[in-house]
Amino acid sequence: MLSKHVLNCGFSQWYSLFADISIDSKSMKLSDDFIQYLLSDGIVLPKSGSDGNDDEIIEDHDWGDDNDHQNGFPRLPDGGGDDSDGQSSGAEAAAPEFPEMDAFMRSALDSLGAVFPKLNWSSCEDSSWMSATGTRCLTPDDVYLLLKSSDRIVHDLTQPFKDCTDETPPVEHELVLKKWVDMNPSMEFRCFVANNQLIGITQRDVRSYYEHIGHQKEDIIGDIHRLFVTRIQNQFPDRDFVMDVYRPTRGRVVLVDMNPFGATTDSLLFDWEELYTRRLDIITTDDETPIVPEFRFLTSGAGVQPQRYSMNSLPIEALNGYSLDQFMDGFHIDR
Ligand SMILES: Nc1ncnc2c1ncn2[C@@H]1O[C@H](COP(=O)(O)OP(=O)(O)O)[C@@H](O)[C@H]1O
Ligand SMILES: [Mg+2]
Repeated sequence: MLSKHVLNCGFSQWYSLFADISIDSKSMKLSDDFIQYLLSDGIVLPKSGSDGNDDEIIEDHDWGDDNDHQNGFPRLPDGGGDDSDGQSSGAEAAAPEFPEMDAFMRSALDSLGAVFPKLNWSSCEDSSWMSATGTRCLTPDDVYLLLKSSDRIVHDLTQPFKDCTDETPPVEHELVLKKWVDMNPSMEFRCFVANNQLIGITQRDVRSYYEHIGHQKEDIIGDIHRLFVTRIQNQFPDRDFVMDVYRPTRGRVVLVDMNPFGATTDSLLFDWEELYTRRLDIITTDDETPIVPEFRFLTSGAGVQPQRYSMNSLPIEALNGYSLDQFMDGFHIDR
């Protein structure tokens, strides 16, 4: 895989071509300061991200004994200086300020309503468990919290070209706020395009068996194939790529994301080896017969795979019968 294949799947690159068949979104270039903030340790929310004026500081695992919750999340020990015991915790960090970022977020929230944040390539799905509203962000603080808690965001910033064989090019990192859509996971599909032909479609949520997919399979293939042929085929700079789509209703499919054709992208119910072989077959044979994409979906509960980001959240046993709030209260740390 070459770095240009990764660059072409960066949000602004593909969205500029396909905005009309995708989800409404806004993006803004990240400043160096903001990138440094995202990469720094601990979770200190910027000053003006909340609706109130309070500074909010969350240090890793140092959530204090305060029972007050905001957005379903433990409220932080006061970072603004009212140290009732007169001692500084030493772990506190000053809350940074990013007025331009705040303004961008507020304007996007105004026009899109709730938003789903991501950077050029990756979303913060892995940190959605941190917030009571998951990936659905209603305030700048919600966005900051997800971004700051996500390993996938760090990956986007530090090693997006990990699987590339050529030199690392410069990148303009960006924050993308997509309109938050209440997606039915059974209608999300990942589609493999080789040599500009749609060769494979797989259900995207391989954690669950959905009986209705089997009943609608011809319609699903037909709807996705129609979107591909009429709006996407030969319009993307690469001949091989992977597109994620969502089918909200019969006859309607929207583009959710573009990904490179290669091991950096999860092949889900396919295997990269077989996809590469199929690609080679297409390139080396002159057969003019139209290609019918192979559709893979789970036909019973037997092939169900573990949750995508199960390792990022708490094992349920850890709660030992307590609610999450009660459990958090157990993290009392003397200061
Ligand atoms: N606009 C959105 N609103 C709500 N959920 C979304 C939205 N876009 C994507 N998702 C959910 O997040 C998942 C990952 O989205 P995606 O943009 O492909 O990010 P990534 O490239 O990190 O996988 C999707 O499978 C979908 O379930
Ligand atoms: Mg993606």
